[in-house]
Amino acid sequence: MLKKKDKYNVAIMGATGAVGGKFLSILEERNFPVKELRLLASERSKGKKLKFAGKKCPVEILTHRSFRGIDIVLSSAGAARSLEFLPSAVKTGAVSVDNSSAFRMDKDVPLVVPEVNPHEIEKHKGIIANPNCSTIQAVVALYPLHKKAKIKRIVASTYQSVSGAGQKNILELERQEEAINKVVDNWTIGSHTVDKFLVKEFPHQIAFNLIPQIDVFLDNAYTKEEMKLVHETRKIMGDEAIKITSTCIRVPVFFAHSESINIETEKKLTPEEARKILSKAPGVVLVDDPKKHKYPMPLNAEGKNEVFVGRIREDESIENGLNLWVVSDNLRKGAALNAIQIAELLIKHA
Ligand SMILES: NC(=O)c1ccc[n+]([C@@H]2O[C@H](COP(=O)([O-])OP(=O)(O)OC[C@H]3O[C@@H](n4cnc5c(N)ncnc54)[C@H](OP(=O)(O)O)[C@@H]3O)[C@@H](O)[C@H]2O)c1
Repeated sequence: MLKKKDKYNVAIMGATGAVGGKFLSILEERNFPVKELRLLASERSKGKKLKFAGKKCPVEILTHRSFRGIDIVLSSAGAARSLEFLPSAVKTGAVSVDNSSAFRMDKDVPLVVPEVNPHEIEKHKGIIANPNCSTIQAVVALYPLHKKAKIKRIVASTYQSVSGAGQKNILELERQEEAINKVVDNWTIGSHTVDKFLVKEFPHQIAFNLIPQIDVFLDNAYTKEEMKLVHETRKIMGDEAIKITSTCIRVPVFFAHSESINIETEKKLTPEEARKILSKAPGVVLVDDPKKHKYPMPLNAEGKNEVFVGRIREDESIENGLNLWVVSDNLRKGAALNAIQIAELLIKHA
């Protein structure tokens, strides 16, 4: 349990990564009560310094002793590191909010989106899991509709930005686009294909392409990313009966994930009613005036905290169905912001 204090000692595990960078800026933006900040990463980051609150803070190498004196750990260094190191953080009495998939489906670990199931944090035993980026924005948009009309089935197709895969993948798209832009004749077939040595992180070229694979394939022919959306959504919404299927696509967008979501509800919900509910829902911004070309887009969601919802329309192929388009910044609400909101809840309840 977190003890009430004026200010807290905070450690960021994976501080040099894509999510780690957002932890730093959002802690500052929200005036999080930081007493001491400990930045942790791998040997590769030895000697690096990162800016926080006008000062340059040194990055330390993550070890089992990194958590001494720490109250709150914000973790984003991958599942293997979370599994190895967070038990040490728990032993020292710190509370960890973990961005990786390591503990999300553990029945003893709460999986929390503050707009949906904030009360779950009370059950923590030292670790609270932050859901996957694509799950967070989906449940922020869907939970208010579920409360009103009970969702029976969800069909979600995601269009996920490269930053969702980390810092190296952002650079990979940048380098591939640079290489293509150097080619004078971009209209000839093959002239927008990059040399193989520029394809390292993704399984295929991502620039000017879409890749229908995020994470590894499982025995059921779905990817791990697709099944995360299925299992995590049910756990967060507290309803194992919801039928969910998903397809996750990587797109050549730098920041913010987009999702086309179809829902079937038990009670009838008109698009107008859905708009009314979502216009008052916490963390949601309704952008839904298609005739004026107003709908959510990743470029507009980049750097913002909210989940943007639009293109709400009736699914005319079934009795109680709606289609929605949901966009949010994966590094903010999809990762760092959600974790910091959880930490703020912990402080509120300390
Ligand atoms: N990107 C997203 O939108 C997003 C959303 C939700 C959840 N997540 C999760 O958040 C985690 C981090 O993602 P990311 O996108 O920030 O990845 P990233 O940009 O690749 O950053 C990874 C971070 O982990 C550190 N790290 C890697 N191996 C380490 C080791 N052996 N010891 C200590 N530190 C190590 C890296 O340090 P070095 O710089 O020293 O290598 C870096 O700080 C992942 O579990 C990911 O699934 C990401």
